[in-house]
Amino acid sequence: MSQSIRLDALTVGYGSRRRPTTVLDATELTLPAGSFTALLGPSGCGKSTVLNAVAGFVRPTAGRVLVGGEPVTAPGADRGVVFQHYALFPWLTARGNVEFALKRLGLPRAERRRRALEALAEVELADGAEKYPAQLSGGMQQRVALARAIAAEPQVLLLDEPFGALDALTRARMQELLIRLWHRTGLTVLFVTHDIDEALALAERVVVLGGRPGRVVADHTDPSAPGLRELISRQLGHGHEA
Ligand SMILES: Nc1ncnc2c1ncn2[C@@H]1O[C@H](COP(=O)(O)OP(=O)(O)OP(=O)(O)O)[C@@H](O)[C@H]1O
Ligand SMILES: [Mg+2]
Repeated sequence: MSQSIRLDALTVGYGSRRRPTTVLDATELTLPAGSFTALLGPSGCGKSTVLNAVAGFVRPTAGRVLVGGEPVTAPGADRGVVFQHYALFPWLTARGNVEFALKRLGLPRAERRRRALEALAEVELADGAEKYPAQLSGGMQQRVALARAIAAEPQVLLLDEPFGALDALTRARMQELLIRLWHRTGLTVLFVTHDIDEALALAERVVVLGGRPGRVVADHTDPSAPGLRELISRQLGHGHEA
């Protein structure tokens, strides 16, 4: 099961209520259920703000976010989130970290355990279930974070530069793993990155965010189109100047 994501005139401002700095201004975007979209843009353009608004961590100043047609008002188990920094509890094993994320679902202990092991197997980390984060490599820790995000069987998966801290080889492996996961689960994926090559390698659609306040400056639905890399590179440059 997966759900669509819709930004409906999403406006977000930070700072004081009287003088907020507008980061996103009436941004419109619809991601169909089951689609895999990369959100690309220069640093500070509001990519994480979009993701956090969908996750329910940031409240819109105006407009709204809809997931499966329902307005987002708070974080929820229907949305799995993975950040660049894995933020695992060091005192819990890989399995313990995933089980912890299932606590809010009110599942019995045995069911939490079963689902945690299933999610770890899904990210090819069944062997590491009883290891602590310090005993795992960066790529393995990020797989635990991914397992934690999917264990609650969400409708959408939100990833914010999840592989930014990994070396090139591990990063390529994680990208493959994510694609396989997407094919198997059919989740709606929103993947934030500032890396053009990563966006083109992963997604079936690349949305470029830019300007201040941020807005959608381009929407590419054919990542294999010739010359797209150069085109996006120019679009990102314009985002910087705006
Ligand atoms: N909690 C906050 N309070 C105040 N300003 C914020 C807050 N979060 C983000 N901002 C500002 O909003 C703008 C957009 O931030 P955001 O984190 O969404 O950008 P980003 O595109 O994810 O950047 P990066 O690629 O560096 O992660 C930036 O100018 C940032 O300083
Ligand atoms: Mg960010």
